Amino acid sequence: MRIAVLSRNRSLHSIRRLLQEASTAGVQLDTINPLECQLVVDGKQSHILVGNQDVPDYDAVLPRIGASITEYGLAVVKQFEALGYHTINHSQAIAESRDKMRCAQILMQAGLLVPPTVLTRTQKGMRNILKIVGGMPAVLKVLQGTQGVGVMLVNSTLSLASVLDAFWGLGKDLVIQQFIAEGAGRDYRVLVVGKEVVAAMMRTAPEGEFRSNIHRGGAGSLIKLPKAYERAAVRATEVLGLEIAGVDLIDSDRGPMILEVNSSPGFEGIERATGLNIAGAMVQHMIASADRSNKRKLRQKLRGRS
Ligand SMILES: Nc1ncnc2c1ncn2[C@@H]1O[C@H](COP(=O)(O)OP(=O)(O)O)[C@@H](O)[C@H]1O
Ligand SMILES: [Mg+2]
Repeated sequence: MRIAVLSRNRSLHSIRRLLQEASTAGVQLDTINPLECQLVVDGKQSHILVGNQDVPDYDAVLPRIGASITEYGLAVVKQFEALGYHTINHSQAIAESRDKMRCAQILMQAGLLVPPTVLTRTQKGMRNILKIVGGMPAVLKVLQGTQGVGVMLVNSTLSLASVLDAFWGLGKDLVIQQFIAEGAGRDYRVLVVGKEVVAAMMRTAPEGEFRSNIHRGGAGSLIKLPKAYERAAVRATEVLGLEIAGVDLIDSDRGPMILEVNSSPGFEGIERATGLNIAGAMVQHMIASADRSNKRKLRQKLRGRS
């Protein structure tokens, strides 16, 4: 079996671990830098060129698209899909989960709990908006932030108004979200691979910080995830159409709330905190998923002939 992982940096912990586990499982795993992929659509045929060569055939493609190259990365993933490659995760699922508003819309429609969230481009009716998000303090988030960067806490209507103005002036949209006080300072990072929770950790924010991201100094520890959290995390990945995801949940008075769903979750922190072999689980899932896809393609081909 031959799989490609789309990643800019092969020395990242997650990629090194995937290469290691793929080799153990007898899978050839090639890394391709998405920024080195040239996408050609010439009217007759589509191609992906890497260094003047057509990209080889793969049983599956694993996109690991960082937030800073979302647009280009998604164009690359879409082109792989147009050429019939099986992608884990699909470009549409990556795009929808990456946008915090879009993600909240989809999760809410599926009956999952998300913090009350408002997207606005005007300061009109702010009093009502503040009522919706439970007053101050409130959380502000850029739509495509990650690792806690772009998540802010504001304590007054004056700071809220000025931060909104500043970001709008830079052409960036923000969502205003209820600050979940009862769960603040810690959250659950749950790794779902193929409809199963393969690891979960609780992340605790350092003193004086409300964001519990590992990149913001949060500390991870192994926990036994309550069933309700497990169900919410798996359901969230299902409704977004993700096969592999990191789901962030927070305790709330109403039950587990979903903060975000990450389609390219790093797993250095969670492997270290839990001692679990996440990379191995991902490789096993990719093999099974690629097998299913190959069988599907074969059936379609045979049907086409008969
Ligand atoms: N509404 C909220 N109430 C309380 N804490 C929050 C809220 N939203 C986010 N946080 C904290 O901030 C962290 C980062 O938020 P998140 O939405 O996951 O953005 P990012 O994509 O940057 O990780 C969360 O892990 C959580 O600790
Ligand atoms: Mg997060």
